[in-house]
Amino acid sequence: MRKKFIAGNWKMNKTPSEAAALALEISEKALDAKCDVVVCPAAVCIPGVISSVDGTNVEVGAQNVHFKENGAYTGELSAAMLTDAGVKYVIIGHSERRQYFGETDETVNLRTRTALSGGLLPIVCIGESLGEREDGIMYEVVRRQAKLAMMNISADEAAGVIIAYEPVWAIGTGKTATAEQADEVCGIIRSVMGELYGDDTAEKIRILYGGSMNASNAAELLAQPNIDGGLIGGASLKPGDFAEIIKAASV
Ligand code: PGA
Repeated sequence: MRKKFIAGNWKMNKTPSEAAALALEISEKALDAKCDVVVCPAAVCIPGVISSVDGTNVEVGAQNVHFKENGAYTGELSAAMLTDAGVKYVIIGHSERRQYFGETDETVNLRTRTALSGGLLPIVCIGESLGEREDGIMYEVVRRQAKLAMMNISADEAAGVIIAYEPVWAIGTGKTATAEQADEVCGIIRSVMGELYGDDTAEKIRILYGGSMNASNAAELLAQPNIDGGLIGGASLKPGDFAEIIKAASV
């Protein structure tokens, strides 16, 4: 059985003091969680959030990591910096990074490999745009993104990778994929993992859904056989709503 995984992507929201307070509130509400709970604040908020969740069952993720170990890369963060700060997970290839910051399948793969070798567990985001869905090429797009993200990653490493299926048209729009749509694509991603690594490994990889998951639709999405959790944006900034999603993942 794969343990359910609920991660909040706070994006470019909350100042360090606001983030520390939000993390504290979430950790208090998540005391009975039976799923993994992760919050991903902006980098400058990480130390305060780590202190807030110390000794609780909430863990911390970053929103990006650079693919070089160190050096002259102004503005970037290395895996060693993040692990030393107490970060366990890192979101890679979020569609907002692909759309606004030139992230490609190649850099997603480089970051994923660097995260793994640097001791971070990657949450790799893939998903089709509205145009790609309307053109009927979404399966092809998702299969390609999944394969390219995992290039040169061994089966042992792959078992620790978390994949988030986030249809771009559902992110921040209030439009959620139906539970059946989301489960279907998560199932396709699992079959790609099976082709790459064999069924045993594919069964270990957690595949999340992301895109307008909220307190009212989480239970139905999380009940699907191929959906192992959620990557949550907007609703993760509201402790009551995030707590409802955690509850829905804890059944
Ligand atoms: P949303 O964002 O829940 O606000 O749609 C999800 C995400 O971007 O990971």
